[in-house]
Amino acid sequence: LGKKILFFKEIPSTQDEIKKRASSEKSGLVVLADRQTQGRGRLARAWFSPRGAGLYFSILLKGPLAQPITLYSLATAVGVARGLEQLLDIPVKLKWPNDILIKQKKIGGILLEKVPEGLVIGVGLNVTFKKENLPPDIREKASSIFLETGIIFSRPQILRAVLVELEKIYEKLLEEGFNAVEDAWQKRDVTKGSKVVLKRGEEILKGQAIGPTPKGELLIETNKGVITVSSGEILMWEI
Ligand code: BTN
Repeated sequence: LGKKILFFKEIPSTQDEIKKRASSEKSGLVVLADRQTQGRGRLARAWFSPRGAGLYFSILLKGPLAQPITLYSLATAVGVARGLEQLLDIPVKLKWPNDILIKQKKIGGILLEKVPEGLVIGVGLNVTFKKENLPPDIREKASSIFLETGIIFSRPQILRAVLVELEKIYEKLLEEGFNAVEDAWQKRDVTKGSKVVLKRGEEILKGQAIGPTPKGELLIETNKGVITVSSGEILMWEI
């Protein structure tokens, strides 16, 4: 992973750039940008990607891939958390399906997209953002590694640590499936066992989060019974 890294000072989105190259490049290619003008997040949102403040990269994975591919979402979150923990010396938490948190605040996210050749996995980490740099609508929920630790880490250092862990966990995922991620996820899961409010499409669900299924969906216990959620967003959770 990352044997070849293409760096761009400015591009619309590392996801789109890597997709264009998917058929001609080898598995493991990484596309990195200093700034994205059209960074994308999950659920058709924009991902705020100003110059130098974050780490924005995408990885190309070609087959063979572990199944179901949604497990790559959990695996990537675990790999990123492990990479960061080695540098930061504080716990990094996870929120289903793939938010990276420090002290209950989101400092990074993952975007998984299927392409004919395999999978494109985008990672965005807020590294040096200060409070006033964060857009007002996300200021309450979002943060950065700098804001939570007081340390300004170099982005290449973070990228290296994260790629080492991702390579290991993707290999393990292929061999062992869900077992490769289950314990590591549970240990860092911020919503495990707590009351959650979840948005699925236009629907709001309330219940107690149980945890991820072997397919990477989320189980929640509601007053109508246990529900399996394959796509959605946890809006609130009990700390
Ligand atoms: C989310 O939490 O909604 C996922 C955010 C993913 C952002 C990254 S930044 C690098 C890559 N390129 C994009 O346009 N998006 C992903």
